[in-house]
Amino acid sequence: MSDTVNPGLENVLVAETRLSRIDGERGELLIGGFPVEDLAPNATYEECVFLLWNDRLPTAAELTDLREDLAGRRALSPESYATIRAAAEQGLPAMDAVRMGVASASLDAGEVDDPNTVARRLVAVVPTIVAAYWRYTMGEDPVDPDPDLRHAANFLYMLSGDRPDVDAVRGIETYFNAVIDHGLNASTFAGRVVVSTESDLVSAATAAVGALKGPLHGGAPGPVLDILTTVHEGEEAEAHLRNMLDEGDRLMGFGHRVYRVRDPRASVLEAAAERFYASGGDQAFFETVREVEEAGLAILAEHVADRNLATNVEFYTAALLNGVGIPRDLFTGTFAIGRVGGWTAHYLEQREDNRLIRPRGRYVGATGREWTPVGNR
Ligand code: SDX
Repeated sequence: MSDTVNPGLENVLVAETRLSRIDGERGELLIGGFPVEDLAPNATYEECVFLLWNDRLPTAAELTDLREDLAGRRALSPESYATIRAAAEQGLPAMDAVRMGVASASLDAGEVDDPNTVARRLVAVVPTIVAAYWRYTMGEDPVDPDPDLRHAANFLYMLSGDRPDVDAVRGIETYFNAVIDHGLNASTFAGRVVVSTESDLVSAATAAVGALKGPLHGGAPGPVLDILTTVHEGEEAEAHLRNMLDEGDRLMGFGHRVYRVRDPRASVLEAAAERFYASGGDQAFFETVREVEEAGLAILAEHVADRNLATNVEFYTAALLNGVGIPRDLFTGTFAIGRVGGWTAHYLEQREDNRLIRPRGRYVGATGREWTPVGNR
């Protein structure tokens, strides 16, 4: 039994998985056996979900079946809508609404507790939850899901009520595919702990949403956009970033627990963003994005010389989602829409070969204390 404490479980192997392989030294990511560079820009999100759940890409017929099945599960119960509305009207953060919406997915599910069916429902409802929260926040009624639209297109449609353009759909779908799974990141692992107790997938996904909300994990893209906007509006990039570090802030969008070089998803999303901005977006803004990345890397190389802090997935996520028209406050919720495919696949995998997850802690507290009744203290 090892007596070495690994804070944050850094570099601790706790499971074998077929879902994704991260090579942090070489900056490579396989999702379901496919390089993320090949899968993300070419697949539909439904194909990626099928791949993770079944360890192969679907046939055309299987893809149609899955697409139609998920489309039929997108609607929320009246109670879920009411909960999301209350969160919006009270000005709660989007991820609180997502957590409450996912937790209420148990309502009106109307199905036996079959984990594969619950997995489909979780993947199907997260876009509806995120879009409904935004519509209520804007003082509008939610847009009903359109069963004729694919997963990614339907999300954009439910946000605006308009038919989304092809470039925007390709952009958001590339994003969903790129972030669908990423090993035992904090949110995925949180849910695996829940499932390891033989609890249910809705409880696991609810725990995962709670973890994803944190700025060290899924909460980074919004602050990245804040940096990009500040610089685009006139602040000098280097001065702004140095000031952030001087104030003890971390530069969101840089650094990673596993990657010691550039996150391969940053390159995938950079290409997707460049394609999107070239097709009619704000080219000047995209030039700012590139400028901030260059300045950030140079400053971090100087500021934290002993770590090769490189660009992570969140940096170009901010540029792409902003370009596609996703509101800043929905960036992390949009992350959840993509990642719930991986969460559910991990939870099904945990169930296949389960062992209760229960690490140890070393006690460093007081010993030998003697009890005294409160009257004597
Ligand atoms: C995601 O795990 C995953 O797979 C996550 C994810 C996924 O797909 O699920 O990839 C998604 O979470 C991407 C990361 C998004 N978060 C951010 O962009 C926030 C900014 N990044 C950092 O907070 C940080 O890099 C982490 C949290 C991502 C990594 O944390 P670590 O492993 O604790 O960082 P480290 O050990 O490499 O840091 C070493 C030093 C530290 O100095 P000290 O505080 O010990 O003195 O480098 C510093 C850090 O302060 N540092 C940074 C920095 N990242 C690390 N300093 C400034 N800016 C940064 N971004």
